[in-house]
Amino acid sequence: MAIINIEEAKKNVQRAGFLDVDIDPRLDLFDEINRLKREKNAVILAHYYQESEIQDVADYIGDSLGLAQQAEKTTADIIVFAGVHFMAETAKILNPGKKVLLPDLKAGCSLSDSAPPDLFRKFKEEHPDHIVISYINCSAGIKALSDIICTSTNAKPIVDSLPMDQKIIFAPDKNLGAYINKTTGRNMVLWNGSCMVHEIFSRERITKLKVRYPDAKLIAHPECEDVILQMADYIGSTTQLLKFSEKDEAKAFIVATETGILYQMQKASPDKLFIPAPPDNSCACNDCPHMKLNTLEKLYLCMEYESPELTMDEDLRIAALKPIRRMLEISASLGL
Ligand code: 13P
Ligand code: SF4
Repeated sequence: MAIINIEEAKKNVQRAGFLDVDIDPRLDLFDEINRLKREKNAVILAHYYQESEIQDVADYIGDSLGLAQQAEKTTADIIVFAGVHFMAETAKILNPGKKVLLPDLKAGCSLSDSAPPDLFRKFKEEHPDHIVISYINCSAGIKALSDIICTSTNAKPIVDSLPMDQKIIFAPDKNLGAYINKTTGRNMVLWNGSCMVHEIFSRERITKLKVRYPDAKLIAHPECEDVILQMADYIGSTTQLLKFSEKDEAKAFIVATETGILYQMQKASPDKLFIPAPPDNSCACNDCPHMKLNTLEKLYLCMEYESPELTMDEDLRIAALKPIRRMLEISASLGL
């Protein structure tokens, strides 16, 4: 990192995405981050896909639904979001009065990027009698055009809560949408978006792994393609996959989702074997490059200097709040 003046560095955040400032190598970053949490009344919310040392210093680790619920109820003055941009946006939408920090503003999401609001508005106009259910992995602009938000934990019960003849657009994940169509018997119109990490798994290489580990169960996130879901012994959100791996009697699991979750799985079940499902080439593509932009160093710097901060236009925030609130209300009524 370059040694530059802090005010200069803050101005450069828009370009770099994070504060590019030297850190004293003698500092214990865990101690420093914990000190900053206390001094600033800050809370760190981290997604399971974050690197293990960020998970270790977080106050709450969870899936997208759990993180939104924590963001809704926190009493902290500062929310430090160790996740990606749409997650921090959700926290800001729920907490206009709080400071929301993201260690790297460039931590985006290929799925969220696959739905530009201008194109989606036109798509919506082509389906005038449909309501819009959007997966939380979308921008505030898409949320503002939606009626209800859902996550992979509550997508099925939310769709089930609507009358069978209700016409629905589901966006932006076509794989999750197709899975929900299959499990609910609906025919929702799907936006053609997908996650770069969950589309990479190889059926052939998973089959080979199953031959090598015949007792291993394949557990998969519903963002995966149908060919992978068809092979899976269990399908669920990250939290659901973690709980399943804890409770199930199997001693080995092939895990078809981002690799970060394996850290909590191994912690919860130290005697079990967790094998990341292999991608269709030799790259480490089942690591989300966006999630992994956050590092312990960037986390420390964003807390120390309270930058980069996530800000949002107030009209957009109010429009995006309504469908998020609806999701949280339905989830609470279902005990999720
Ligand atoms: P969940 O957090 O709902 O399991 O979704 C995973 C994901 O892709 C988040 O980006
Ligand atoms: Fe987006 Fe996929 Fe990364 Fe989740 S894993 S943040 S859906 S690109």
